Amino acid sequence: MSNRTNTNLWGGRFKGETDPAFAEFNASFGFDRRLFAVDVQASMAHCDGLASAGVLTKSESEKIKSALKTIVERGHASADYFDEQQTEDVHTFVEARLVQMIGDLGRKLHTGRSRNDQVATDLRLWLREAIDKLTVILRNPQEALLDLAETNRDAVIPGYTHLQRAQPILFAHWCLAYFEMFMRDRERLTDVRKRVNVLPLGSAALAGTSYPIDRKAVARSLGFDEVSRNSLDAVSDRDFCVEFTSAASLVMLHLSRLAEDIILYSTTEFGFFELSDAVATGSSLMPQKKNPDSMELVRGKSGRVFGHLTSLLAMMKGLPLAYNKDMQEDKEAIFDTVDTLNASLAVSATVLRNLRINRERTLEAASHGYLNATELADYLVRKGMPFREAHETVGRIVMVAIERGVELNDLSLSDLQSFSSLIDRDAFESLSLERTLATKSQVGGTAPERVADEVAMAKAQLQNRER
Ligand code: ARG
Repeated sequence: MSNRTNTNLWGGRFKGETDPAFAEFNASFGFDRRLFAVDVQASMAHCDGLASAGVLTKSESEKIKSALKTIVERGHASADYFDEQQTEDVHTFVEARLVQMIGDLGRKLHTGRSRNDQVATDLRLWLREAIDKLTVILRNPQEALLDLAETNRDAVIPGYTHLQRAQPILFAHWCLAYFEMFMRDRERLTDVRKRVNVLPLGSAALAGTSYPIDRKAVARSLGFDEVSRNSLDAVSDRDFCVEFTSAASLVMLHLSRLAEDIILYSTTEFGFFELSDAVATGSSLMPQKKNPDSMELVRGKSGRVFGHLTSLLAMMKGLPLAYNKDMQEDKEAIFDTVDTLNASLAVSATVLRNLRINRERTLEAASHGYLNATELADYLVRKGMPFREAHETVGRIVMVAIERGVELNDLSLSDLQSFSSLIDRDAFESLSLERTLATKSQVGGTAPERVADEVAMAKAQLQNRER
């Protein structure tokens, strides 16, 4: 095993060779190479910090930075660049390349820093960018939902509780429910970003740096809003990872519920929606099948992100201060969370953009099953009956209607009057679908005028929050 030569960073203290299997176990370069660009970016800022602290001369820092620039260019030019050398992690890799290019001067870059503050800085830079992209990408399902709401503005569907038909609602109201969830998700991510955007660099291994580096200037050059206030905390804090994964879990939870609704409403039994061929699959055996694999995978992948949240919490809970190698496990959880979110959001937006609503079928479903029973109770309340009594009375009317196999509107006036003398001809108006919807006209309700307002507001909100 040759990794005692130039890849290990701790050669001096060691006599023995590293066990090859352990070296492989210990290495993170297989996945943390995704931090390559931000690692170089942070190194350049650190280089400036060392120069203004007088640790490096102007010309030394310029040489280092120009070599770092070449390194990042080579990395971007060819993936092979990373395969040229067996290496422990991305930080080791960049430093080894630097030394290879400019010799001993390259060995000066690590002055006053540790991989502990370096990795925390890299991960924060990487995650900040990922969050910025996610908050934009989250707009895609939101836009698709608003488009769906607008093109189907009059469509009515049954609303459910306990998966039993409850009250009719506008399909657009259903769309806006998910719009709200994604809005909160974007707010949450924006909030998490504040705590991500704090600079740990300058904390060194755990105690702080001994060089007069202007940390605030370094923070500014890397776009961080603040510098960390405690070096012990800064190198061992992964709250921002937990917070992010938690916010991401809620995004996945919302996507998963959306997926479940879409899957259910696309069954023959419901028949409300039809998925586009572009996002469905067939069966290798049953020729008639059209399966909602896209949404099933989104639902399934939500579990994976919840798993990352749990693994981060479990990984951190017993760690003594400050840095421990356990924390190397943070990266795969974060990377996979970001990848899963990006892919799930993209597929979900495509599903929504191409979703077909069978309006006749949803209207038919919303008009059958006594979804207007509450309206009749409200009618009796308006006529002076206490609500509890009205509820009981309508319950008995529903029972008779069920026995006769008819809807409430199909009963005659005298049938209805046999239950209460308060009932008059105008009761039938209250039972109409239009009235049922129109009465829900307070903020948050499903009345068509309300929903139209909300769609307009949602559109405006989406435009304002454009980053
Ligand atoms: N690869 C390490 C990680 O991801 C970098 C920090 C290593 N620090 C150390 N003291 N061994 O956490």
